[in-house]
Amino acid sequence: MKPVVLAGGSGSRLWPKSRAALPKQFLALTDENTMLQNTIGRLDGLQSEPAIYICNEAHRFLVAEQLRQQGRKHGGILLEPVGRNTAPAIALAALQAHTEGEDPVLLVLAADHLIKDNKAFHKAIQHANALAEQGKLVTFGIVPDSPHTGYGYIRRGEQLNHAETGFAVSQFVEKPDLETAEKYVANGDYFWNSGMFMFKASRYLQELEKFAPEMLKVCKEAISTESKDLDFVRVDAEIFATCPDDSVDYAVMEKTDDAAMVPLDAGWNDVGSWSSLWETSDNKDESGNVCVGDVMLTNTTNSYVNSEQRLIAVVGLDDVVVVETKDAILVANKHKVQDIKKVVNELKAQH
Ligand code: GDD
Ligand code: MG
Repeated sequence: MKPVVLAGGSGSRLWPKSRAALPKQFLALTDENTMLQNTIGRLDGLQSEPAIYICNEAHRFLVAEQLRQQGRKHGGILLEPVGRNTAPAIALAALQAHTEGEDPVLLVLAADHLIKDNKAFHKAIQHANALAEQGKLVTFGIVPDSPHTGYGYIRRGEQLNHAETGFAVSQFVEKPDLETAEKYVANGDYFWNSGMFMFKASRYLQELEKFAPEMLKVCKEAISTESKDLDFVRVDAEIFATCPDDSVDYAVMEKTDDAAMVPLDAGWNDVGSWSSLWETSDNKDESGNVCVGDVMLTNTTNSYVNSEQRLIAVVGLDDVVVVETKDAILVANKHKVQDIKKVVNELKAQH
């Protein structure tokens, strides 16, 4: 089994900590390790080969340095000159892994998720690995607790093994509208797609050939002219720029007949926003506040307050998010934190 760590996202809803130069996967948001370091550390104890990392060219030294700090080997750091979403990123990793008679099962991981129960996660990986060896494209399914429209939904099909640990996927719907998501959650047969996958490198490439042949062709050309320097594998910038942009969910998982789902109950959270960081924190005070750094609260409840340099005092507010960094301060309603993306977009437009 070969892990593939996707580390090319921008994490804009965690502004002002997450920036273009330092997106959330490279930040230590939940403990002393960065999300990338926790992603790979979580696999300790499992038998696996050194992981392939795939990130934007601009972040190559962040990845290399964060691995070096923990003495971790890698199986290549692939550099994308531009982001073309997850389907091409995984294709590049699969092409890199599927060489010289090698056809490993890939464990595709997002570099910015939180999983609390490693033991349960390892078990699920073992179940998924067995199905991937049989040629399935496996995703890990999470029991949904809200009609979140930023997730993929998986309808559980027939049972594929004895202990209810693996199911066929009878339907995969990426990011449905709210009304549809509400129906799915009420139905009970639907799971969230965790965004982590297991399949053989060859199976992914075959499905891509079927459903997105142009993407596969461009990825093959871009990586065949690769140049290697030290740890890094560069793809050809001009060729890769012509690659169609699509996620693995739309390009492959919605379309394949061979999808399978392994349920995952391991305290998974994709840490998509400040409110999800508040939600998953085990360090709430008696008023439900999460405080990081130099913070003073009076009559304040259920809030997330994070100071990097200066003292933050909050008086008489509930459900707020305050995040202070050296050059920007965010004050937001905890229930409106999805809109932080709008601020980031506006800032981008101004510069
Ligand atoms: N290398 C690379 N290149 N990585 C990328 C790129 C890219 O162009 N785009 C995104 N990533 C990385 C992100 O850093 C993240 O770790 C992961 O791939 C998933 O991308 P997101 O952009 O966060 O996807 P999403 O949250 O909209 O949706 C996915 O995850 C949900 C669960 O969190 C989908 O798989 C959904 O179906 C799923 O429910
Ligand atoms: Mg995400």
